[in-house]
Amino acid sequence: MKGVILLALKDMVIERFGGASRWEEILETAGITEKLHILPITDIEDRIVMDILNSLMKVLNINIEKAGEAFGDYWINVYAQKFYKAYFVGVKNAKEFLLKMDNVHTASTKNLPDASPPKFQYEWKDDNTLIMKYLSKRNLIDIMVGLIKGVGKYFNEELKVRKIANDRVEIVFPYT
Ligand code: HEM
Repeated sequence: MKGVILLALKDMVIERFGGASRWEEILETAGITEKLHILPITDIEDRIVMDILNSLMKVLNINIEKAGEAFGDYWINVYAQKFYKAYFVGVKNAKEFLLKMDNVHTASTKNLPDASPPKFQYEWKDDNTLIMKYLSKRNLIDIMVGLIKGVGKYFNEELKVRKIANDRVEIVFPYT
């Protein structure tokens, strides 16, 4: 996984969950004793990212759903506003934004060697109910749910977001 994800996670912990010492504790609990040199484009082994995520849940005493919500809010409403603002320009609502996500993941990683971004497929259950299918070997659907909730917050929309399978999220929009 790209370093940018860990950098955002680190900033989130420092800003919202107790500062730099808490981040150090998370790394230590994950068994990472050497200093990590992370650049946004660095490719970090998925196993290390998962170890850090598991350790974060343990140290902060939160489950994967809460971790997903915290990260989803931070990534969309803080981090992406600084580094990926272009993807929000001209987008009028959460529906439009989510429908762009498959392309955004391809575009934001196409110049990064070794990237393997998640892919999304879209299916409409009815006029205002979208099923987003998650295609990734990483099994981070709970993080995906949190990210979608973060998108709802950004656009100030009451989305109903629900994991309906390990590779599917249902989103009900308050409009068609
Ligand atoms: C401006 C908005 C966004 C940008 C620029 C962005 C970019 C990225 C990047 C660069 C990665 C790392 C990919 C890799 O290492 O191969 C990633 C991972 C991920 N993104 Fe996004 N993302 C955005 C919003 C979202 C949203 C709204 C969702 C939910 C639908 C989402 C779901 C995920 C998931 C689940 C991962 C973890 C990787 C995996 O499961 O395979 N992202 N994203």
